This record gives sequence, structure tokens and C-alpha cells, in this order.
Amino acid sequence: MRGAMQPVSRMACNGAGFLPIILLFSHTEHAVMSDCYAVIGNPIAHSQSPFIHAEFARQTGQDLHYRALLAPRDGFTSAARQFQAEGGKGMNVTVPFKEEAWRFATQLTERARLAEAVNTLQFGAEGILGDNTDGAGLVRDLQNNLGFSLSGKTILLMGAGGAARGVLQPLLAQRPARLTLVNRTPARADALKRQFAAHGEILACGYAALAQPHQLVINATSSSLHGALPPLPETIFTPGALAYDMMYAKEPTLFLRFAAAHGASRLADGVGMLVEQAAESFTLWRGVRPDTAPVIALLKSC
Ligand SMILES: NC(=O)c1ccc[n+]([C@@H]2O[C@H](COP(=O)([O-])OP(=O)(O)OC[C@H]3O[C@@H](n4cnc5c(N)ncnc54)[C@H](OP(=O)(O)O)[C@@H]3O)[C@@H](O)[C@H]2O)c1
Repeated sequence: MRGAMQPVSRMACNGAGFLPIILLFSHTEHAVMSDCYAVIGNPIAHSQSPFIHAEFARQTGQDLHYRALLAPRDGFTSAARQFQAEGGKGMNVTVPFKEEAWRFATQLTERARLAEAVNTLQFGAEGILGDNTDGAGLVRDLQNNLGFSLSGKTILLMGAGGAARGVLQPLLAQRPARLTLVNRTPARADALKRQFAAHGEILACGYAALAQPHQLVINATSSSLHGALPPLPETIFTPGALAYDMMYAKEPTLFLRFAAAHGASRLADGVGMLVEQAAESFTLWRGVRPDTAPVIALLKSC
């Protein structure tokens, strides 16, 4: 009934969660509410994403709320649907739900289709768009923040899980001289090599077959999470090589300490990638690219 006063039930987002509120307004009045976003995962308490997106929003003057959402391990779909039904505009997705989010999305970007994993969802009238911003985040961190041009370089990528899969095509797109993919279970590296063959040449192997030194060695394994070190030969770094661990921690990881002791002259952890992949999501959602440098500096100083 146009023009009549309608009781409308809405959800308002605050830092602590969703609060049901009842608003009374006519169609000519506007309820001013912030757009709501979240990061969903399990566990999630450690996530820096709410801090990062709050900084981006403050910096760009965007009116939004962003919070962490813990979903049961078997409850991703219902939690995401509920968030969407409550008016949520988009979500970041982290461990262990990236593959489920890939199946959940009704449309995929090309990079998400290839990665078979989604870390960014956008809820719209046309459906649910799934994107994967991890690879773009890594490439931006390497090239823009660390000043390491990938073109013509020899790259060793360790791991064949979700993180490696997500960054393969963006790395190949920069035309390295050689990209070697090494994995503890070599068959998984071989499978990725075949799957990404149309996007560039990949040499796939196990650690025992590693011989030549590399200018960039990226740790995309979860070994650092367990305080372990993949069995790399001591000669794996060229003089002046960059060692990059996707994991971030207060202290240098075992991999970064190994790299420092065996010829790598530059070391980086995954904080820059984390902030850059968040900036890609933010740009998709809000149409404005935040400045990542001050946010990276803030996280590093914490
Ligand atoms: N900074 C960021 O923004 C960002 C984004 C995404 C991911 N990450 C990080 O990337 C890492 C990998 O994540 P993921 O999702 O790819 O994990 P995943 O899918 O579970 O894959 C784990 C990979 O690590 C390998 N691995 C585990 N322990 C190992 C060890 N001791 N020695 C050698 N290889 C080992 C596994 O080899 P097998 O195949 O033989 O089991 C597999 O290839 C995590 O530390 C995650 O935090 C960071």
C-alpha cells in the first residue's frame, strides 16, 4: 500500500553482532543504515580482517560495518544465507570454508573459477558473486610494496593446497622465467601443473628433485603453522633472493630463519598479502581502492 505507514522489521549491524530493531517509516522517509560485511571462518577470533576493513572504511569515508562471524564447521551455508537475508552486502571467507564458498556462489570471476576457492562473496540482486583475491593480493604485495618485479624471475612455489592454487595463475600472468611447483605429495603438484597448463609452463616436483637456486621462494604450505620446515636444499636461494612466507607471525617463521641462514637477502611474511587481498575485496564491494601502506605499517607495529 503505497504511502501508508508500514511497520518494517530490519536488522542493524553493530560491532557486537546483529540487533533486531523495528522501524516505522513511509516510503518517502529513508532509514539510514550502514552496509554490513563480515569475515566468516572457524576459528575466527584471531582474524585481522575486521581491523583492516575498519581502517579502510575510515580512510575512504565509507559508511560500513564489518565483523567476524564464527560458523560451525558444518554450518557455512546456513550462516552465509542468514547473513545475506539480514541484509549483509558481502563476506570474506577463510579457513575452512573457501571451497564451500566456491560452490555456494552463483557466479564466479575467472580467477575464482580457476582457484576453485572463493575468499570474497558479494550479495546482489542478480545473485551471489564469488571472487578470489588472494593471488592479486600476493602479486601486489610483491611488486608494489616489496618492489620485486616477477617478470623474468625464477620462482619456487611450495605447496599445492588452496593457497598455492589461488596464486598460480596470477603469478604465471606476470611471465616469470620459470615457475617450479614443489609439494610434499608430488602427485598434487603434478595435478595442478596439468590443470593450469593453458596459463603457462609449470615444473612440478617433490622436494628431493629440487636442484637449481631460485630468485623468489614462496612458502604456500601450512608448515609454518605447525612449526615445521619443508625439506628444502640449502642451495635453494640465489644470492639476493627474496623469501616470502604467506603465514605471518610476531617472530620470523622457521622458513624465514632458514632462508636468512642460507643466502636469501630479503625476507617477507604474509601481512602485506593479507592487507592487499582485503583491499581487492574492499574495492570490489565499494568501488574505491584504499591505501594499503598505512594499514600494513599499523599491523606490523602491533
Ligand atoms: N597471507 C595471506 O593472506 C594468506 C592467504 C591464504 C593462505 N595463507 C597461508 O597459506 C598457508 C597454506 O594454506 P592452504 O589453505 O593452502 O592450506 P592447505 O590447503 O591445507 O594446504 C597445505 C599445503 O601445505 C603442505 N604441507 C603441510 N605441512 C607440510 C610440511 N611439514 N612440509 C611440507 N609441506 C607441508 C601440504 O602438502 P601435502 O599436499 O603433501 O599435504 C599442502 O600442499 C597457510 O599458512 C595460510 O595461513 C595466507
